[in-house]
Amino acid sequence: MPRVVRVDPSAPAGEIVAEAAGVLARGGLVGLPTETVYGLAALGTDAAAVRRVFAAKGRPDTHPLILHVDSEAMAERLVAEWPRAARALAAALWPGPLTLVLPRSPLVPAEVTGGGPTVALRMPAHPVALAVIGALGAPVAAPSANRYQTVSPTRAEHVVRSLGDAVDLVLDAGPCRHGLESTVVDLSARPPRVLRPGAIGMAALRAVVPDVAVGAVTAEAGARRSPGTDARHYAPAGRVVWVQNAHDALEAAGRASAAGERPFVVGRSIDPGALGLRGRALGDEPDAYGAALYDALHEADAEGASVVVIETVPEGEAWLAVRDRLTRAGGSRA
Ligand code: TXA
Ligand code: MG
Repeated sequence: MPRVVRVDPSAPAGEIVAEAAGVLARGGLVGLPTETVYGLAALGTDAAAVRRVFAAKGRPDTHPLILHVDSEAMAERLVAEWPRAARALAAALWPGPLTLVLPRSPLVPAEVTGGGPTVALRMPAHPVALAVIGALGAPVAAPSANRYQTVSPTRAEHVVRSLGDAVDLVLDAGPCRHGLESTVVDLSARPPRVLRPGAIGMAALRAVVPDVAVGAVTAEAGARRSPGTDARHYAPAGRVVWVQNAHDALEAAGRASAAGERPFVVGRSIDPGALGLRGRALGDEPDAYGAALYDALHEADAEGASVVVIETVPEGEAWLAVRDRLTRAGGSRA
């Protein structure tokens, strides 16, 4: 098992930050808390370290990684140009769960970008991540710290369970605040386009970049432009069954149990406990629902659920990121 160190999420101890930066500087991998999900961190300017990230995740090396920075100045060094939209979005929403895609500078190893001409950048709003990047003095490449196509980690124990010894050190700062990944915006496109909906909503983006586009990409075009957005992703081990109401949830869970399967119910307005079913009620508020979703899917996996019964979520922009992840988890409509 990797070394796991507890760390104060708001005021990390200097020795722990220095240890993590040392592991990264030597080409090692660190499970690093951010406000979205835990990242699998490597020194972003070290091609060999970045290759270890792909090996640890079992992820195809054509899928580009996000470089995490601790300042706009660090970001500017990693891109060919830092346009006005980038400056405005960074001023309004960094540090925070917003990733900007721009033409890369020669400082960025091809391993980070999947061989492509652009690089994804974000300044995380987490004191631990910022402190480690600051101590390292260099960008940190960090995909979510989970095996390819499984559910992203929102707790240190998820990282350990998914990656084991493939990671050298895990900093345990408790559960992640947002629980869903960052919003990825392609600023190399005209108009700017959301490649992955996430913790920053459309209204916040539009307030800064009014013509930002979303949703018009087909699944295939999206997969080409942003390979991490494969149709099957973020998936629990069990088969997903969609339900609309408590009656259907009872029926689906009952059918699964009768067939010798082990159901787990992810409710929104449905409370599985009140129906005598295993599962979690995540509530009707999209941010709180998003913050708890991966934890619930990890619980389903840990319980060995072979059927995950999920209550559908509403249409509309407030549920965009949650709907995106649920759709990928189930391989069909949320
Ligand atoms: O919240 C997050 O973004 C977390 C934390 C750790 O920062 N990271 C994360 O990384 O979710 P990952 O590797 O699991 O997802 C990165 C996403 C993928 O959808 C990938 O396709 C996209 O960013 N991406 C990265 N570089 C890109 C590029 N140059 N062009 C287009 N999309 C890119
Ligand atoms: Mg991921």
